[in-house]
Amino acid sequence: MPHPTLQTDAQGRLRHLLTIAGLSRELLQHLFDLAETYMDPLTKSTELQGRIITNLFFENSTRTRMTFELAATRLCADVMNFNVSTSATAKGETLLDTLRNIEAMHTDLFVVRHPLSGAAHFIAQHTAPGVCVINAGDGRHAHPTQALLDMFTIRRHKGDFTPLRVAIVGDILHSRVARSQIAALNTLGVSEIRLIGPQTLLPAATRTLGVHIFPYLADGLEDVDVVIMLRLQKERMDGALLPGTSEYFRLYGLTQARLAVAKPDVIVMHPGPINRGVEMDSAVADGPHSVVLQQVSYGVAVRMAVMSLCLQD
Ligand code: NCD
Repeated sequence: MPHPTLQTDAQGRLRHLLTIAGLSRELLQHLFDLAETYMDPLTKSTELQGRIITNLFFENSTRTRMTFELAATRLCADVMNFNVSTSATAKGETLLDTLRNIEAMHTDLFVVRHPLSGAAHFIAQHTAPGVCVINAGDGRHAHPTQALLDMFTIRRHKGDFTPLRVAIVGDILHSRVARSQIAALNTLGVSEIRLIGPQTLLPAATRTLGVHIFPYLADGLEDVDVVIMLRLQKERMDGALLPGTSEYFRLYGLTQARLAVAKPDVIVMHPGPINRGVEMDSAVADGPHSVVLQQVSYGVAVRMAVMSLCLQD
């Protein structure tokens, strides 16, 4: 019998999705199988008819917020959007008061994005029984649905995870996406996870992460099946961790020439937003190996699957 946690119940069913840590390989594969059933963009399902989903965004977002909204409407849920810049938060309302008020509108599920690590856990601990929380990115901590849609993209292109070598490149230190991807790649049993980046942008404790560190792009990209590029998250940097963006591109920017050492069928991923000419050349971003826009499309199906699992009776 599984051990109940904040995000899974005693039967192992998903109640909240806050982090990838602690989720089983079977649950992830089940979620991907379910996402496959939502891949046709023209079919709608009525399974969440009568349910109310609230997007609670305290930080900017394009893809994540829009794909959550589309996913909810494709399952026939009613959707409300909270945006901090146009809300009463500016008038001094606390987070818990905001929550209680939106709960009074009979919300069944909150999709939460917040600049503070731990915010989604905090909200999950304070929602009424039966109300679900999905973490859509909290500080540097976790972004589980992004990692899930990335894994789904890898599975669709590569099938089996076990033989794969995956490189994550760039600002790993500030990346909630990278943290969730590393957890998911370990759970799914890939052969090797490589972190490539300057020392100042790598997490201090990498020993327990099950990864290999590569300070140079040329070494790290050799024979990889998947390359995941990350944005320089300047909004989360405390000081000058880099000499400059052109210097960064010279050392870590992905170009077609640099990609030549990877496997011939390598796929290039990026969670977006891309800074062209900083972490990646346009020729790569728009080139034959790029699956960046497929990640966005698959994100709808994956988020439908997550909402469906969280709200199952
Ligand atoms: C990421 C995020 O917000 O963490 N973007 C996303 O959700 N697609 C990555 C980033 O901001 O660089």
